[in-house]
Amino acid sequence: MGTRAFYIRTYGCQMNELDSELVAGGLVKAGFQAAASLEEAGVVVLNTCTVRDSAERKALGLLGLLARRKRERQPELVLVLCGCVAQAHGTALLERVPELNVVCGTRNIQHLPKFVRRAIEGAGPIVDIADDDMVDLCYEPGTRSGRVKAFVSVMRGCDNYCSYCVVPYVRGREVSRPAGGIVAEVRRLVERGAKEVTLLGQNVNSYGRGLDDANDHAGPRDFAGLLEQVGAVEGLRRLRFVTSHPKDISERLIEAIAGLPVVCEYLHFPAQAGSDTVLARMNRGYTRGHYLGLVEKLRARVPGIALSTDLIVGFPGETDAEFSETVSLVETVRYDGAFMFKYSPRPGTAAAALDDDVPLEVKKARLARILELQDEISLEKNRALIGRQMEVLVEGPSRKNAARYSGRTRCNRIAVFEACPERAGELVTVEIRGATPHTLHASLTESGPGRARG
Ligand code: 5AD
Ligand code: SF4
Repeated sequence: MGTRAFYIRTYGCQMNELDSELVAGGLVKAGFQAAASLEEAGVVVLNTCTVRDSAERKALGLLGLLARRKRERQPELVLVLCGCVAQAHGTALLERVPELNVVCGTRNIQHLPKFVRRAIEGAGPIVDIADDDMVDLCYEPGTRSGRVKAFVSVMRGCDNYCSYCVVPYVRGREVSRPAGGIVAEVRRLVERGAKEVTLLGQNVNSYGRGLDDANDHAGPRDFAGLLEQVGAVEGLRRLRFVTSHPKDISERLIEAIAGLPVVCEYLHFPAQAGSDTVLARMNRGYTRGHYLGLVEKLRARVPGIALSTDLIVGFPGETDAEFSETVSLVETVRYDGAFMFKYSPRPGTAAAALDDDVPLEVKKARLARILELQDEISLEKNRALIGRQMEVLVEGPSRKNAARYSGRTRCNRIAVFEACPERAGELVTVEIRGATPHTLHASLTESGPGRARG
């Protein structure tokens, strides 16, 4: 258990995954090494999520266990909490867990290696959640070389203030990153082996707001323009982006998805609810009609596009009738995938002032209902792909069965096929042989790297 071996556990969204990579890169640069497991680490970093209470509880549960390990058998263990829980609770975490060495907010992670070093040298607890301390948006790829898939942040924060959401409070105001740095980072990642890049932001479609000639001389002012610039990077084979807010999806964006071959035929654009009254209470800024109009346009302009959503059930005041509109939205759109959650009140948000009046049992039943419905739809849609040839980016051994390999199609489905270590990191063509709601079972075709769409 070397003090210089670190382990990072990441909770929550892809933004956190990216931040963890950046923290890992920073720690390696500062002379630390990745530990093989949590048990072998001398420094443990929990990069936390507070979007729902359950996510927060998971991280704090592990922190409690680690604090015990430190008290009972590893007093030199350095415990670091970063991410959204750190930002939300700051110093209060030290009262709860005095064993913590470092609490580091969402905009302060570039200082984390320095804080860890000080902790090892014996400094008292360090808390840095200053929100005027912008993360240096110019990322060095750190340890990210040699990866075939990479995340690249295009903006941070969110100005939307959906009434249920804690993100604007823990991630701060929306700030777009000048395009020059984004393109340069993508170019570097591609040079180091990346074939697929996912552009990340809480609401990528409002990219460019606030950028002006002073900080981004020749750059694009909107997300469609950014896609064009990034899409032109030589050697990049696939471009994805999350998350899109339905109120900000423009004609130009739809045209960019349709017209740029490198942009994958896949859009994640959370509806959150199917009822206009709930959408208004959520402060989402669009109606069911507007949303369905977008679905129609997207499908007309981008044949075969896969659509996915996030949905919340049991928002304050949600009646049976309002919930059934979410059910009917799922039936109408027939999503390719959906992430569904029970409403969880978050301190400080507008909705926290509303009575959380949908009983837990009702929330659970509503969630089970739409989960089941979506599973049926996903299965039908996946089965319809049987016999099709699709392009897959080979990632490596499948999580569930290491004797098989897995990768994703352009439409973001997981395909599992025979092991092919010699083709890891390559784009290959597979033929779909079978389907479950969440996986396509496939086999490699002889035709090699193909341009099969899908
Ligand atoms: N309760 C339940 N789900 C939430 N989400 C965000 N805030 C909450 C909350 N308070 C969901 C939304 C969002 C996804 C990342 O998490 O669906 O799109
Ligand atoms: Fe939260 Fe809404 Fe911003 Fe998404 S768009 S991060 S749901 S406030």
